[in-house]
Amino acid sequence: MANLNLVKDGPIQVKGSFELKGPDGNPIDCKEQIFLCRCGATNNKPFCDGSHSKSGFSD
Ligand code: FES
Repeated sequence: MANLNLVKDGPIQVKGSFELKGPDGNPIDCKEQIFLCRCGATNNKPFCDGSHSKSGFSD
């Protein structure tokens, strides 16, 4: 089971047991903890690359 946590003004933290699939339906290799972008500014989709701090994203 995966646990989701919204990081203030940042990504979604996903921890635990889960499988991430790309738009083609194939699994994306990832670790037991990942940070998914929710601001849209990342250059490494679907993962957060820290760009949210420069983009001024807040939530
Ligand atoms: S949430 Fe970090 S780059 Fe988008």
